[in-house]
Amino acid sequence: MKIKKGKSLCFFSAKGGVGKTTNLLNLAGILEQFDKKVLIIDMDLYSGGIATYLNKKFDKSIYHLAFDLMNNKFNDINDYTVMVDDYIDILCAPKDPRDANKIEAKYIDDIIKKAELKYDAVLIDTNHSLNDINLTILDSVDQIYFMVTNDPLDLKNLKSLLTIFDSLNMNNYKVILNNSRDPFKSYFSNYEIKKIINHRLDYTISVELFLKDIEKLIMKGVIISLDRKFADIMTKDYQAFVTMATDFLEGDNKDE
Ligand SMILES: Nc1ncnc2c1ncn2[C@@H]1O[C@H](COP(=O)(O)OP(=O)(O)O)[C@@H](O)[C@H]1O
Ligand SMILES: [Mg+2]
Repeated sequence: MKIKKGKSLCFFSAKGGVGKTTNLLNLAGILEQFDKKVLIIDMDLYSGGIATYLNKKFDKSIYHLAFDLMNNKFNDINDYTVMVDDYIDILCAPKDPRDANKIEAKYIDDIIKKAELKYDAVLIDTNHSLNDINLTILDSVDQIYFMVTNDPLDLKNLKSLLTIFDSLNMNNYKVILNNSRDPFKSYFSNYEIKKIINHRLDYTISVELFLKDIEKLIMKGVIISLDRKFADIMTKDYQAFVTMATDFLEGDNKDE
């Protein structure tokens, strides 16, 4: 058996638009600062945004990789990846959402395993549905990061999700409270949030990371955490991401 080099994680949520993609990219930026080789896999197959967020053009996507795996034509994962910088590569979601339908869940685990052989960190972005693809991802990765906002529906749905996880004895997850998504929503205190979801808040992204002009940065393809100002000005959030990255790198491998 080949020895895996790296670790994998996915960001998941009970609701869309909570900040998964934005903050998965922030975590990738911190891992880059730790000198880690990172592959971001966009498994939000129908409406993936990683290439757009990073302003990258691409020809091949995860669809081509899955197709070649199916037809025994796969050679190297980097035949399908796009370079962002010296540390970060991306494997894009299909350009044509109809191709997403053709990706079978059984290839997902294989793709993650192949990525772990080559990269220190494999970060998987998802959408929030509990379909076969996402269930396979949740089952395959070393660590799951649930992102939740201060929103009654989001919190209620996360509680249901965590109850399922606990009943299956799946405890390789952490909860990130994202307060930067919408600074005007602060219905519940942290104490109340913990009570609602019946779980600790492992990490908190603060309201200070709310950026009014975030779309401008997105259009420029900027990873916020790679901006020098991030560490200097948003010290608390920088620290939260550093802790997240350190815990992830030092955490358990699922297969061990
Ligand atoms: N730090 C932030 N500051 C301002 N707006 C944000 C921030 N993070 C996310 N958003 C807004 O929320 C939207 C959804 O974020 P995104 O990361 O795409 O969520 P998800 O991947 O969970 O759907 C973004 O398009 C952006 O408008
Ligand atoms: Mg997203």
